Amino acid sequence: MTAVGIDAVEIWTGNLKLDLPGVFAPEKGEDPEKYTKGLGLNASSFPDSYEDIVTMGANAAHRLMERKRLEPDDIGRIDVATESAFDNSKPVSTYIAGCLESVFDGDFHHANKGERKFACIAGTQSLDDAYNWIRAGRNRGRGALVIATDTALYARDDPGEATQGAGAVALYITEDPDLVTLSTEQGYGSADETDFLKPNQQFPSVDGKRSVQVYLARMREALVDYQSVAGELHLDDVRFVPFHTPFPGMVRKAAMLAYRHIIRDTAVEDELAEEIGRQPRSEAFETDDEFRDALREYMDGLKETDRYQEWYAETIDPTLTIAREVGNWYTGSVHVARISALKYALEQGEDIAGQTLAVGSYGSGAQAEIHTEVVQDGWKEEIEALNLDEQLADRYELTWDDYEEIHDAHNHDMDVDIESMTAPDGEFVFGGWGRMGERE
Ligand code: HMG
Repeated sequence: MTAVGIDAVEIWTGNLKLDLPGVFAPEKGEDPEKYTKGLGLNASSFPDSYEDIVTMGANAAHRLMERKRLEPDDIGRIDVATESAFDNSKPVSTYIAGCLESVFDGDFHHANKGERKFACIAGTQSLDDAYNWIRAGRNRGRGALVIATDTALYARDDPGEATQGAGAVALYITEDPDLVTLSTEQGYGSADETDFLKPNQQFPSVDGKRSVQVYLARMREALVDYQSVAGELHLDDVRFVPFHTPFPGMVRKAAMLAYRHIIRDTAVEDELAEEIGRQPRSEAFETDDEFRDALREYMDGLKETDRYQEWYAETIDPTLTIAREVGNWYTGSVHVARISALKYALEQGEDIAGQTLAVGSYGSGAQAEIHTEVVQDGWKEEIEALNLDEQLADRYELTWDDYEEIHDAHNHDMDVDIESMTAPDGEFVFGGWGRMGERE
């Protein structure tokens, strides 16, 4: 059976940066630690006035194609995952393909283009579509370009405002990939939910506290479903667990579910069972409420154990480094978490070829998916080639007045035209609504 997965990734961050403890917290009259410790965020990436989902996606894809020396003919499929689309008919992938055709020889006339929507999980769904297309043998030797691109903006004064972000991730999916292969097994948790939605509106209507509970409920279902098809994984079998990261504090909660449901640490269970008096398993309790209380006690006890804290520091925390500096990128977020983990391994000088990642994707509305990935021999070269640190360091730091101005400029309900805060540097720029970007 042919191994299929991600051959290469590239990332494009919005060119502006909003400092949360330094700029946002004082204006909101909040303790900066609410953001840095509570939500786990230092900053958000913001799009300048000449950036949008098309330019960011095209810039990420352009870097990827140049670096991998790809021509349009090598690509048989372009899927864009986004929840910031501006066109209900023409997929964003056509705009991005137009940008790329303006700088590469050849065209994408024989590529299948589409757009995927299911909140943040659409990036992983596009990846799955590409995987299925290749595994079905319909790709004619070509690869698939998946682009997850979003401007994840909230209305001003919405509790979600602190978690904003903007950026794109481009993924190239092939047979015998250099970065990771994907498992055939998947676990799902899916249910109709209304805690986060955008019915014909740009900014989401969010019931934030409930959205956290829904994330955890669907993720738990997906983990249990995954376990039922793939069996349990041992603690030492999984090197990193990248999750969808709306903010790192969310992943702090989700990590405990992963620990309990895929990584069955019987030593810790036994130890805690002594304190609780019984194993925290449903069959040991007569009612669901009794089980729920015992489970809560188990979870509270779990996070205090050295064993769990060490596991968290080694397995989860490295997936959060980039998210802390960029905020939520919606469809790109879980793919940023994967890059973050691999970058950490590279910086530690660790060779993780052959090791497993358990990837937890999520989208409001709501659906969670678990699959595993195996890191391939070419991973180091792929991650070394990223210029992420430069991109993050080069962002222009917004003052509060700048922030208000740029937020208004990106608000589709306002007619605000402003000077850009940075100058484009060899990149695609916004060409006007409904037009592809031009390269400047
Ligand atoms: P909030 O009211 O700003 O914050 O809303 P809070 O009061 O709940 O505090 C947040 C955390 O900071 C808490 O920690 C506080 O204790 C802590 P927790 O108890 O949860 O562990 N805290 C402090 N810590 C240290 N020092 C302090 C301090 N003060 C407080 N001084 C909320 C938070 C998540 C509701 C808000 O940010 C929000 O509405 N966000 C948008 C929705 C969201 O991101 N939901 C996440 C799940 S849904 C999802 O992931 C999907 C999504 O990506 C969309 C999609 O799929 O398309 C959003």
